[in-house]
Amino acid sequence: MAAVDKQPVTGAGPFNGVLTWVDARFPLISLWRDHLADYYAPKNFNFWYYFGSLALLVLVIQILTGIFLTMNYKPDAAQAFASVEYIMRDVPGGWIIRYMHSTGASMFFVVVYLHMFRGIMYGSYRKPRELLWIFGCLIYLVMMAEAFLGYLLPWGQMSYWGAQVIVNLFAAVPIIGEDLSIWIRGDYVVSDATLNRFFALHVIAVPLALLLLVMLHLISLHEVGSNNPDGVEVKKRLDPKTNKPVDGIPFHPYYTVKDIFGVSVFLLVFCAIMFFAPTMGGYFLEYNNFVPANPMQTPEHIAPVWYFTPYYSILRAVPPLFGSQFWGVAAMGGAVMILFLMPWLDRSPVKSIRYKGTLFKSWLAAFVITFIILGYLGTKPTTVWGQFGFQTFFMDTRDVATWVARLGTLIYFLFFLLMPWYSRRDKCKQEPERVTH
Ligand code: HEM
Repeated sequence: MAAVDKQPVTGAGPFNGVLTWVDARFPLISLWRDHLADYYAPKNFNFWYYFGSLALLVLVIQILTGIFLTMNYKPDAAQAFASVEYIMRDVPGGWIIRYMHSTGASMFFVVVYLHMFRGIMYGSYRKPRELLWIFGCLIYLVMMAEAFLGYLLPWGQMSYWGAQVIVNLFAAVPIIGEDLSIWIRGDYVVSDATLNRFFALHVIAVPLALLLLVMLHLISLHEVGSNNPDGVEVKKRLDPKTNKPVDGIPFHPYYTVKDIFGVSVFLLVFCAIMFFAPTMGGYFLEYNNFVPANPMQTPEHIAPVWYFTPYYSILRAVPPLFGSQFWGVAAMGGAVMILFLMPWLDRSPVKSIRYKGTLFKSWLAAFVITFIILGYLGTKPTTVWGQFGFQTFFMDTRDVATWVARLGTLIYFLFFLLMPWYSRRDKCKQEPERVTH
């Protein structure tokens, strides 16, 4: 019987009786030991290793505040905007729940972008962590879908017209495009039917997928073990006496304490934004979204929230080719999908940036700067060509910014496409045998 083989509950805690009873019926103690107390993580984690646990924290914040928002929100085109105002003004504590959720959405992306950057810096996508990385990329895709769907719910001008623009993009898919965009909206324009389905997807379907993917992400992380700033595989060197990694330390209490510190600092920043700058100058909550949706009036300038703007720039930078807007859409989609290939594009003999050469470092620096510039340009208006229609969203070729965005798009893709070449040619240093401090 499995229960006989289990290690007993140790220590003289007041709950030992209850723990022993539960543990005989559920692998509570072994879960605790396998994933925390006896889970060995590399001892050289640094600042960049805060963001995984912070992403988990924000996920929990979003789910909890989302539940309370749903209690007073009305997914109805005639009532949605007013119900959000009602939450902000009349529901006790409603404003704080709403601002936690809206700040949480942006902070989720801040944290996840830093988390991904850490992965790229330290080569955490390399063997044996390819699946872990792929689950991460899927999480990123699902997060984007979740943010996009949620943004329609306040039914402000930006909600409405942002959804209109993005759903229209699907119409650019050859052959099935038109039908596809109508199928997504449930109507010929964004309407009450769209709001209802976006609500269903935002509050239940997509969060479930996200939770499932985060679980898979963590299961695969604990299967292969964490990478670290040196890129040394700590599982390979075990202490012959204890059979534990010599370069590892138990996750609990060492990293639980480290993470509690990270969470405290993060919450200070989070609260400062929430209480003093919830709109973040229009970056976290766009000013135009405090105006109710008006299907009869297109805003002068439509821009997505900051975390989408690098991709929006790529979309607008590609001109309609052979009369089709499909290529801009394909470039935008490709810019996200190419992340999945990273484990196979990087051919460097070492994992971590600490031991990589100037070539990789320069390309990574160029990539980061480009991503930020594209993000900035994506928030800016373009000169409008003609009436509302697809072309409105492409940049004007007379505009310098358009050419900067085009160059940025090129650098973005070259970072990935040339990686097999420059990562092999790079002059790397010898990776150490043991982790360094
Ligand atoms: C909801 C979003 C996410 C959550 C909650 C999450 C959670 C975590 C946690 C808790 C860890 C271990 C702690 C750490 O290494 O910081 C981790 C590791 C990792 N995550 Fe994520 N993650 C998320 C999104 C992503 C995304 C979008 C990617 C990449 C596209 C990604 C790639 C990785 C990689 C490669 C590791 C291993 C890092 C290493 O060992 O050096 N994660 N994640």
